[in-house]
Amino acid sequence: MSDKIVYLNGQFLPHDQACVSVLDRGFLFGDGVYEVIPVFGGKLLRLHEHLQRLQNSMNKASLANPMNEQQWTDVLNTMLDRNPGEDRSVYLQVTRGAAAIRDLSVDESVKPTVFVMVNELPTVDPDMQKQGIEAITVNDFRWEACDIKSVSLIANVMMRLQATAANVADAIMVRGELVTEGTASNVFMVKDDVILTPPKSKLLLPGITRDLVIELAHENGIAVEEREINKHELESADEIWLTSSTREIAPVVKLDQRIVGDGQAGSMWHRMIGIYQRYKQELRNG
Ligand code: PDD
Repeated sequence: MSDKIVYLNGQFLPHDQACVSVLDRGFLFGDGVYEVIPVFGGKLLRLHEHLQRLQNSMNKASLANPMNEQQWTDVLNTMLDRNPGEDRSVYLQVTRGAAAIRDLSVDESVKPTVFVMVNELPTVDPDMQKQGIEAITVNDFRWEACDIKSVSLIANVMMRLQATAANVADAIMVRGELVTEGTASNVFMVKDDVILTPPKSKLLLPGITRDLVIELAHENGIAVEEREINKHELESADEIWLTSSTREIAPVVKLDQRIVGDGQAGSMWHRMIGIYQRYKQELRNG
C-alpha cells in the first residue's frame, strides 16, 4: 500500500513522509506500548476493551496517556476513512518520546510519540484454517510483566525464530511446568468437551480475543474453565487453539511433532469458529 496514510503526533501523513527521531525511547529502549485492533465492515472490534487495555499498560509503565477515549476513537476512525479497505487491523503505539540525550532517566517535559497505521487483515478462510498449524513448546524466559502490551518484543521474536528454525508456525511458552501463551496469542485447550485456558496474571497478556471466546462459549452453553494448565495436560489435549486479533482461533494440530487429537481441527473448534464468524458478521452488519 504505497498510498498508505499514517498518523504521527497529530498529523495524518503518507507513510514515507512520517519520521521519528533516532533518540526516540521506543527505538533506543523499547520503551513503549501498543495495541492491535481488528476492523470488520469498518467497525473496530471491542474498541473500548482495547483502549482499556492500553490504559492499563500505560498505568503499569507510568506512561501518561496523551489522549482520552473519545480522542483515540476519532483518530482511529479518521485513519480508517483515510485508508479504505475491507477487513483491516489498526496498529497503535505510544512511546515515551525522544529526549535530548540517551538516558534511562526521563522527566515529564518529554512528550510521547503517538503512531497509528492501518494494515490489511487477510480474511481468515475457515477452510484453510481448519487444516491447522504446527507448534513447538519453548521455555518462557520473559519477565514478570507480560500483562503489559510492551513493544519490547525481543523475547517473543527469539521464540518465533525458534519455531521458524523448527519449521513450524508458532511456539507455545511454558514457564516451569505451566503453559502461559503463544508468541503473539493466547492458548486454549479442550479436554472432554471442556475448554481450558490459563487464568489472567502477570505472566500473560489478557487477550481481547481470549475474553471474547470465553464470553461466546458461556453464551452458547459451552463449559469453560480458566485455570492453570501444565505441559503434560497440554500434551494430552483433545484440541489446542491459539487466539489473537489477527489469528482469530487457530487450531494447533501438531505439538512438538506429536499429533494433537486426531490431527485435524476438532469438533469444538468447528463449533467455536462458527460462533465467532457469526459474531464478526453481526459486527459488520450492525
Ligand atoms: N498480539 N499474547 C501475546 C503475547 C500477544 O502479542 C497477543 C496479541 C495476544 C492476543 O491478544 P489479542 O487477542 O488481544 O490480539 C496474546 C498482537 C496481535 C500482535 O502483537 O500483533
